[in-house]
Amino acid sequence: MANVTVIGSQWGDEGKGKIVDWLASRADAVVRFQGGHNAGHTLVVGEQVYKLSLLPSGIVTGTLSIIGNGVVLDPWALKDEIAKLRGQGVEINAENFAIADNCALILPFHRDLDGLRETAAGAGKIGTTGRGIGPAYEDKVGRRALRVCDLAHLDKLDPQIDRLTAHHDALRAGFGEPPIDRERLKADLAEIADFVLEYAQPVWKRLKKVRKAGARILFEGAQGVLLDVDHGTYPFVTSSNTVSGTAASGSGLALGPSAVGFVLGIAKAYTTRVGSGPFPTELEDETGQRLGERGHEFGTVTGRKRRCGWFDAVLVRQSCAVSGVTGIALTKLDVLDGFDKVRICTGYRLRGKILDYFPAHAADQAEVEPIYEEMDGWSESTAGARSYADLPAQAIKYIQRVQELIETPIALVSTSPEREDTILIRDPFSD
Ligand code: GDP
Ligand code: IMO
Ligand code: MG
Repeated sequence: MANVTVIGSQWGDEGKGKIVDWLASRADAVVRFQGGHNAGHTLVVGEQVYKLSLLPSGIVTGTLSIIGNGVVLDPWALKDEIAKLRGQGVEINAENFAIADNCALILPFHRDLDGLRETAAGAGKIGTTGRGIGPAYEDKVGRRALRVCDLAHLDKLDPQIDRLTAHHDALRAGFGEPPIDRERLKADLAEIADFVLEYAQPVWKRLKKVRKAGARILFEGAQGVLLDVDHGTYPFVTSSNTVSGTAASGSGLALGPSAVGFVLGIAKAYTTRVGSGPFPTELEDETGQRLGERGHEFGTVTGRKRRCGWFDAVLVRQSCAVSGVTGIALTKLDVLDGFDKVRICTGYRLRGKILDYFPAHAADQAEVEPIYEEMDGWSESTAGARSYADLPAQAIKYIQRVQELIETPIALVSTSPEREDTILIRDPFSD
């Protein structure tokens, strides 16, 4: 089991970036396999803070970093992010960075449509990141997308642009927007093409080669299982599958689904969510406020305040089940320091019935009432702890209770944003 797949087990922002960065030095390649620049992964290394959206977190340690075919790629966002990271001294070149040539592109009218729909939806909006993710995936499965490889064949774009404009111009007209400016689109693509093509290649082939040579591959998920388009809180989800199995289809890795290896689910010691949608353990009181302040819960991508609540063991247990999680990395334990009492949701009440799972319908999801178990908190600091022995007894009890309830072993505990402030219980790469 030489590979590790990192996925979020809640609604995103669990600390995937920190954990991937921590594991990256022991991996030979880091691969993004879904999502796009809706992701925001924060890495803290000493004084430096790196914020990544599209680039795999492995790039910071100089590990071979790959954007797989399952990602939707905005070429202009890529260019900006590469420039920003180079400005922070990160080396990015055709040796350590590759993009799948069959990756679908996010184009400017995808972002327009994302925004137009959200504005039109008013209170019913999804609260997307406004990056055009949904419309780009729609075009991919609608067989209209432009892909990275099209940038090498700009003279053959017309039939595809016909398909795109036939679809989008009708939608745009409905919003009172002018049709797509074809000439401008072609000119913009021509201008950015060489920049992207420098890194473009059949990455499935590259992965096959590194796999054969015995490489350890680290798959970096974005978002979280509760934002998965099948398993999440539909329709308040993102437009891709975020579960572990997607690592295989979203990268073209040889060996198929078994290649995902150790599935490391990342879970915050409490729960957060950005955007709309059900959230049973949400706390709209002082406690929620305190979690948000202590955890600095503001979105990396949009700066929006994240909604906060207690740890929901029902949701994480369900995420672990549908995503085949081998072990959990429990992050932000330090944020719970100093609470007199801490609570864990162990089940739901729905119209007089007790549920041990999260129902599929949005109305039921909105109506379930959490059933809590309360435990004593701890007054000591766990911040910066690097071994189990450094943790107060009550914090250990909390971790053990979480582990029991989610029916999945805890492999790592994270106690600060800093790379090295991580407690290793079971090494995901050692199997
Ligand atoms: P991601 O999207 O899953 O990579 O998570 P984000 O980077 O969006 O959000 C997680 C935030 O928590 C970032 O600001 C991290 O620096 C920070 N963080 C990660 N792990 C810990 C931890 O154990 N303790 C604290 N206090 N902060 C953490
Ligand atoms: P990382 O990788 C948290 C949420 C948005 C919105 C929904 C749909 O940092 O964990 P989209 O723009 O994808 O169509 O928005 O998904 N969302 C995230 N929430 N973390 C993320 O990424 C997210 N990416 C998308 O807030 O509710
Ligand atoms: Mg994030």
